[in-house]
Amino acid sequence: MRTQVAIIGAGPAGLLLSHLLGLQGVDSVLIERQTADHVRSRVRAGVLESGSVDVLTRAGVGRRLATEADEHRGVYLQWPGERHHVDFTALVGRSVWIYGQTELTKDLMAAREEAGRPAFYLASDVTPHDVDTDRPHVTFTDADGRPQRVDADAVVGCDGFHGPSRRAVPAARQRVWERTYPFAWLGVLADVAPSTDELIYAWHPDGFAMHSMRSATVSRLYLQVRPDEDIDEWSDDRIWEALATRLGAGMEGWDLRTGAITEKSVLPMRSFVTTPMRHGRLFLAGDAAHIVPPTGAKGLNLAIADVTLLAEALTAWLRDGREDLADAYSDTALRRVWRCTHFSWWMTTTLHRHGDDFDARLQLSQLQRVIDSEAAATEFAHNYAGLPISFG
Ligand code: FAD
Ligand code: DHB
Repeated sequence: MRTQVAIIGAGPAGLLLSHLLGLQGVDSVLIERQTADHVRSRVRAGVLESGSVDVLTRAGVGRRLATEADEHRGVYLQWPGERHHVDFTALVGRSVWIYGQTELTKDLMAAREEAGRPAFYLASDVTPHDVDTDRPHVTFTDADGRPQRVDADAVVGCDGFHGPSRRAVPAARQRVWERTYPFAWLGVLADVAPSTDELIYAWHPDGFAMHSMRSATVSRLYLQVRPDEDIDEWSDDRIWEALATRLGAGMEGWDLRTGAITEKSVLPMRSFVTTPMRHGRLFLAGDAAHIVPPTGAKGLNLAIADVTLLAEALTAWLRDGREDLADAYSDTALRRVWRCTHFSWWMTTTLHRHGDDFDARLQLSQLQRVIDSEAAATEFAHNYAGLPISFG
C-alpha cells in the first residue's frame, strides 16, 4: 500500500495529525498496536490549553468540546493554611478547559471514521525502514496475521515513549536529555462531585496532592507517593484520608467529598527530550519525542502543538513542494518543548516534597511569590494557560 504519510501510533498525536493532513488533502495511514477500544479508554490527561482548543475547533473536532468541556479561569495554589486563586483570564486573557483525553480521543476517532481515513489497529512488529532515503516504508503484521508494507513520502512516529520510531534514529545522530524524579503519583478517578470549582495544586509536608475533575459527577485526584509504591498498600480509605489531610490542611469549613474509586494507578515521573525531532524522512511528535512530568498538565498539549506544526510543514512539502517548514520543524517544535519542559520541571520540583527543610522553605517562598507578585503570577499564567503554538 502507498500513502503520503505513514503515521505510527493512533493516540491523540497520531489521530489529530491524520485529521489535520486530511483537511489539507494530504493522505495518511495510521498504524496502531492496540485496539481502538483500548486507546479510547486510557485515562490520562484532563486539561486543554486555549491554544489546543482553538486548533481542535478550527479543525472541526470541537463540537462536543464546546458543549461538554468546562472552562476554568485559573487554578488554586495551596499550602497549609493558605489557598489562593491565580486568575489566568484576568492576568493574560487566556483560560484552560477541562476535557478528558478519553473524550478527545473519541472525537478524533469519530472524525477519522466519518472521513474514512485508513487505520490498522492491533498491528504487531511495526517497524520503520529506510527513513534516511527517499523511499521510506513501514512493515507490520495486521490484526489477521498478514504481513503488510506501507510505502510513504514521510513517516511520523506518534507512538509514545515506548514505540519503535525513536529507535529508528541512529544513536550517533540522537541526543537524549533526561531527569527522573524521586517520587510518583497515585492517581484515582472517583464517582463523586468535585469539592472545588477549579483545580487545586497543594503543597503539604506529607507530599503533594491535587484535586482535578472530569465532570459534575466525576473527580480526578492525585497523591505524591514513592516511585516503587505498592498500590495494594493503598486501600480506598487510606487514599481518601491522605487526600483529606493534604488538601484540607488548615482549610476551615472546607470538606473533601468522597465516593467510589473506579480506577487507580501509579504514574512514574520523568522529564525526557530527544533531539532532533527529525531524521531524514522520519519525524517524531508527542510522547515519542518528549515526556514531561504531569504536574504542569503539558503532555497532551505539547502533542497537539507538535502535530499542528507538523501538519503545516508536511502539507507545504508534500502538497506545495516547499520543504522549508519541514526543515525547520525540529527547531521550531523544540523551542516550545524546552519551555514546557522547564515549566513542568518547575511545577514538579516546587510542589513535591523532596530534599530537606531548607528546600521546603525555598518552595514555600517561591509559591508565596506567585501570589504576591503580579509579574510572577503573570509568568505562571502564560506558561500554564499556554503559549502560542509558534513562539519565540
Ligand atoms: P500516546 O497517547 O502515548 O499514544 C501513542 C500511541 O502509539 C498509543 O496509542 C500506543 O498504543 C501506540 N504505540 C505504541 N507502540 C506502538 C507500536 N510499536 N506500533 C504502533 N503503535 C504503537 N498528561 C497530562 O497533561 N496530564 C496527565 O494527567 C497525564 N497523565 C498521564 C498518565 C499516564 C499513565 C501516561 C502514560 C501519560 C499521561 N499524560 C498526562 C501524558 C499524556 O497523556 C500524553 O502526553 C499524551 O497521551 C501524548 O499523546 P501521544 O499521542 O503523543 O502519545
Ligand atoms: C490533570 C492532570 C494533570 O497532570 C494536571 O496537571 C492537571 C489535571 C487531570 O488529570 O485532570
